[in-house]
Amino acid sequence: MDMKMLIAERVASAAREAFEGCALTGEDVCAMLEIPPEKKLGDYALPCFRLSKTLRKPPQAIAQALCERLSCEELERAEVVGGYLNLFLARGGFAGKLIEAVLADPGRWGASDAGRGKTVCIDYSSINIAKRFHIGHLSTTVIGNSLKRIYDFCGYKTVGINHLGDWGTQFGKMICAYKKWGDRESVERGGVQAMVDLYVRFHKEAESDPALEDEGRAWFKRIEEGDPEAMEIFSWFKDVTLKDTQRVYDLLGVTFDSYAGESFYNDKMQPIVSELREKGLLVESQGAQVVMLDDYGMPPAIVLRKDGATLYITRDLAAAQYRHDTYHFDRCLYVVAYQQNLHFRQLFKVLELMGRDWHKDMEHVSFGMVSYEGRSLSTREGYVVYLEDLLQKAIDKAREIIEEKSPNLPNKDEVARQVGVGAVVYFDLHNDRNKDIDFRWERALNFDGETGPYVQYTHARCCSVLRKAQGLPAAAPDYAALADDEANEVVLLLSRFPETVARAREQSEPSLITRQVTALAQAYNKYYFEHRIMEEGDPAGTAARLALTRATRDVIRTGLYLIGVEAPERM
Ligand code: ARG
Repeated sequence: MDMKMLIAERVASAAREAFEGCALTGEDVCAMLEIPPEKKLGDYALPCFRLSKTLRKPPQAIAQALCERLSCEELERAEVVGGYLNLFLARGGFAGKLIEAVLADPGRWGASDAGRGKTVCIDYSSINIAKRFHIGHLSTTVIGNSLKRIYDFCGYKTVGINHLGDWGTQFGKMICAYKKWGDRESVERGGVQAMVDLYVRFHKEAESDPALEDEGRAWFKRIEEGDPEAMEIFSWFKDVTLKDTQRVYDLLGVTFDSYAGESFYNDKMQPIVSELREKGLLVESQGAQVVMLDDYGMPPAIVLRKDGATLYITRDLAAAQYRHDTYHFDRCLYVVAYQQNLHFRQLFKVLELMGRDWHKDMEHVSFGMVSYEGRSLSTREGYVVYLEDLLQKAIDKAREIIEEKSPNLPNKDEVARQVGVGAVVYFDLHNDRNKDIDFRWERALNFDGETGPYVQYTHARCCSVLRKAQGLPAAAPDYAALADDEANEVVLLLSRFPETVARAREQSEPSLITRQVTALAQAYNKYYFEHRIMEEGDPAGTAARLALTRATRDVIRTGLYLIGVEAPERM
């Protein structure tokens, strides 16, 4: 049940009654309803300016005519101010309807079947083999994971793809270094860091021994040709990387349906290249084969290098085709930093030029950069923060806080993990994704600010209230007890949650949910401090306030789930 829609239906039918020939529907009105900037202007407002063209009446007269015909149990009153029709919800009646709707299907408030029968591919995290997982890959991982959950919640079939960066000459050099100076056991033990060390050593030694570069290239050629020894080492490198990375994914609760990375497309690029050539899209430029894009204000897309080698975009062209053929997607998202804006604009344009009308179903979900405590990260200067270290530090800090605040908590380790990891994920997902983020400990782990722990704490508070109420005799709720401003604010935020989920999906913007769930937590806390939930001698009012608490708890949990944050019941 959608309250806004219900109100919109009422307004639409008043309009059809008032104006002959008017065919306004609930959907039309729903799309026009606004949330007024101030409480005293109502809970919703309908601007009548646009209607004035079709109905050929001044906006104010339209608002007045609607106002006179609106009377229903969900509305307390309507007022005309200028060309606006301001609507005030009947608090008790509205609260009761809404809370019962939220509680009717626990954990599903805001869910929909908008995506029934549709598939969305989401390319996220997409780490590089033999590189350590650092915080530059945090946003793609958590935004992608959240979008997957949001799309699922909206009824889509989702395919999470980790498009591994597992192709390039560096892997030849790494094998070369491994054969010279490495051994199996120390790589098994040292994991990705051991591979990184080998690679660094390769570059040092190559300075005085340029022949090494040739050896490295030879090894890469062997990978390209599928030589068994090269392939064996290479795929073992991959296993070691994925095993290391899996620890981080486990902490974050992130999963994938496919790990088809760049090398997966080795044998799938030829048809694309041939088609480009047949369609006359490929031209030679300084020995390379390129698609000219200057008509679209872009530099050429290089498809084959001078030596015939394929590039990042060649693999992405093949990957897009493969995803379309395999999953028949309705949408295909790429959660990748804005530095790759040009790459994706080129990719989508080349697909369009090839006549793939599904190029319009593709979206580059870009995001800003992460810095750490005011310092930007740079691999070149050796300033990196590894994700696993960051998460571990967050868990340790959360553990200290819990030790201090709730020394008697039974499962402290578990809660510390949920709170520590939740703080990091929330921090990443609480601003517009295209803004750069500066990670600060005192802002991520503050239990009072707009943080993950704050929202989690509110959820635990609701759980605690409900635990205390368990022994109470059952009573039918009297929702008139929820007519005060503070309860009304909570109810309104609950009622707007489904819209927020829908918008978060449409705009690929998880932060809308983060902020909504934070506002809900703030509103509930305000309510909690100004009202007694359990009042002796008032079983019906108590039941209503408990129902509000339960609905809040459910929706906070759902919202946190959708951004990939766990919700402990005690903190
Ligand atoms: N591995 C790349 C990187 O770390 C991201 C790949 C994104 N996905 C894609 N299909 N291009 O920058």
